[in-house]
Amino acid sequence: MKRICVLPGDGIGPEVIGCAVDILKEVTNELKFVHADIGRAAKEKSGEYLPPDTLGLMRDCDSCLFGAVTSSEDPDYTSPVLMFRKELDLFANLRPVRTIVPRKDREPLNVVIVRENTEGMYTQDEVYDDGGVTTRRRVTENACRRIVKYAIGYAKENDRRRICCVHKANVLRASDGLFLRIFRETMESSGKTLIAEDQLVDSAAMKLVTSPSRFDMIVTLNLYGDILSDVAAGVAGGLGFAPAGNIGPKHSVFEPAHGSAPDLIDKGKANPTAAILSAAMMLRHLGMVGPANRIERAVDEVYGAGILTQDVGGRYSAREFTAHVIAALK
Ligand code: NAI
Ligand code: MG
Repeated sequence: MKRICVLPGDGIGPEVIGCAVDILKEVTNELKFVHADIGRAAKEKSGEYLPPDTLGLMRDCDSCLFGAVTSSEDPDYTSPVLMFRKELDLFANLRPVRTIVPRKDREPLNVVIVRENTEGMYTQDEVYDDGGVTTRRRVTENACRRIVKYAIGYAKENDRRRICCVHKANVLRASDGLFLRIFRETMESSGKTLIAEDQLVDSAAMKLVTSPSRFDMIVTLNLYGDILSDVAAGVAGGLGFAPAGNIGPKHSVFEPAHGSAPDLIDKGKANPTAAILSAAMMLRHLGMVGPANRIERAVDEVYGAGILTQDVGGRYSAREFTAHVIAALK
């Protein structure tokens, strides 16, 4: 039996995570779910966006399934997402995005983005002075090597052939230059099975839109990965199609790449696919490959049968779509 910490969070988080948990219950009875508060609901109950009890449960469980939180403009606000990524040493952010609902006017996309998850622009190290604010952006050799090695391991295990390092080493010559150098060295010493490519981040964004099929895997720094994975999701039909996993040596947290989508709350319009596919990623991470494959096949089958969510021009709500996936699983 594996214990899963379920953190629905804010906005559409509870709706899409509810759908994902129903599907997990359909494919296996090997999971025990424990619920924990995060985000605004947690702040109201306990005064903290990431209460210590929640973090403790996340540590104790075999994995976590998280929805999203709504950020606050409060000057003292620290993102609970950045906090748990740091506390649990979730150094890799794995974001596979693929076209499930094809469009005539667009090339299909099937790319795995591996995003460095611990440093870069996300350490919230910002200092005011008389004239403005200085943000410190750290790039370390260890973090670069760790993320590139992770990407190589993933490629080998999942039959990916090409890894493209996305950077801005023409301008950020020292920091991104370090990342690019480590990428090249690590790829070189990993054997000849994988093809190493690299691309500047601005042109990579353009190419993801104009010729997405040229990408197989991308390994990149924190901010670039955040932005490029939303670009890729947009090409694939929207943020409702982008699952993600935060992975570390001991712990893991799976979450849709999207936020709390305040514009969609209580409208039935949220697409639960990203949350459902995040749950499938979690199963695969826990070694439950069969049920993970079943979920992915069922999602493809339902879309293939023309049961479309509203973000891709269909009429089905999150719950109705989920009921169809469950029917396909039976
Ligand atoms: P968002 O991802 O919530 O929404 C961006 C756009 O995508 C909106 O038009 C929304 O309607 C659409 N969208 C998002 N999820 C969808 C789904 N499942 N189905 C269909 N359409 C979907 O990003 P936004 O609007 O920039 O941020 C909203 C809030 O979420 C902010 O407070 C932000 O800080 C927070 N956020 C939280 C994240 C997390 O908890 N990991 C990640 C990103 C944003
Ligand atoms: Mg994002």
